[in-house]
Amino acid sequence: MSPKREQQTIVVGVTGGIGAYKACELVRDVMRRGFRVKVVMTESATRFVTPLTFRTLTGEPVAVSLWADEPDAKVHHISLAEAADVVVIAPCTANVIAKLAHGRADDMLTTTVLATEAPVIVAPAMNTHMWRKEVTQANVSALRARGYAFVEPGHGALACGDVGEGRLAEPALIADAAQAEACRARDLAGVHVLVTAGPTHEPIDPVRFIGNRSSGKTGFAIAEEAARRGARVSLVTGPVSLPDPFGVEVVRVTTALQMRAAVLARFDSSDVVIASAAVADFRPATFASGKIKTADAPDAVVLARNPDILAELGEANGGRAVLVGFAAETSDVVTYAREKLAGKRLDLVVANDVSGELGFETDENRVMFVSADAAEELPVLDKRVIARELLDRIAALVDARKSL
Ligand code: CTP
Repeated sequence: MSPKREQQTIVVGVTGGIGAYKACELVRDVMRRGFRVKVVMTESATRFVTPLTFRTLTGEPVAVSLWADEPDAKVHHISLAEAADVVVIAPCTANVIAKLAHGRADDMLTTTVLATEAPVIVAPAMNTHMWRKEVTQANVSALRARGYAFVEPGHGALACGDVGEGRLAEPALIADAAQAEACRARDLAGVHVLVTAGPTHEPIDPVRFIGNRSSGKTGFAIAEEAARRGARVSLVTGPVSLPDPFGVEVVRVTTALQMRAAVLARFDSSDVVIASAAVADFRPATFASGKIKTADAPDAVVLARNPDILAELGEANGGRAVLVGFAAETSDVVTYAREKLAGKRLDLVVANDVSGELGFETDENRVMFVSADAAEELPVLDKRVIARELLDRIAALVDARKSL
């Protein structure tokens, strides 16, 4: 699928724990796998291993201080953050996990992590009691929910003399995780992904409209994640208050008819369409060009049916592009999702039960991936993590289609 790629960069963050010496082995292992490695250390890490060690191993300058003079006058933490295809922090102390969980950025490493768009892998290492503390586990959960990957610490004799969980995982395991993320980081290279998002607003007059509660968060998260994984992404969105995702073509529309036109104009070049928009099924049959005065309000608004954009694509598609629809249901989720799958000729439906608290306007959701022969239920996850899981499935579908 992907042509010969340029060398990918893995930024290895080293924090102040005895496991820092194992980071030397990690760096060598990752380099042997063909990656360029840049190391960033905390001040405490330099008490265990010197920057010179990593500089010698990698042949690259090692970043420690935010305030060091950079010969090329670049803002170093930003250039590191941008250069990274993957960031791996190994070993990662409880303190740095806590800082990351709270978005703190008070040194070179944490500032780089806050500034990066790359996936972050954390390999914790600490005393077993510190690892098991509720506060540490809560910080780990918070980071997981935001999409950080963890390479769990192993069990064994610790430097402090205790025996238990807390040992840094074996460097080869951490390198495996880094390599897997790096592959995923480019698995949509050369693929054009078209995403619809948000609600549509169907005007009654210049100030009133029929709309719905869709926030657009899921569609924006999918577009952002697809772009991060190398796809060319077009995002056609109804009215939402979200900023443009980085590196994405954003087309802002208002009505279903406008969304249809923008989608159809891009469909032929698309390999994947992900229709997360909550398109209004109906629009007012007439539009009053002047604001309707209260005294003149009609007793009823006559509605006209909007075209079903995704069904239209399904009909035109002939099995070419991968088509993914969304289904918000309040009961019989799988049954209704399968009806949509067949009716609109889709490859996959992301179904969610909107009868509870989750769904609209929330950061989290619980969804099912429903295809013709499987229904996979995911736990409650942050919408960004759902985006990643969904794109994993879609990347596999794209590969399968290309090898036909
Ligand atoms: N969709 C679309 N154009 C429409 C309506 C829906 O492209 N005019 C897409 C949505 O983006 C979503 C899927 O179709 O991917 C939702 O299907 P739909 O049948 O509209 O579901 P609901 O209206 O939620 O449910 P139902 O029809 O069962 O009431």
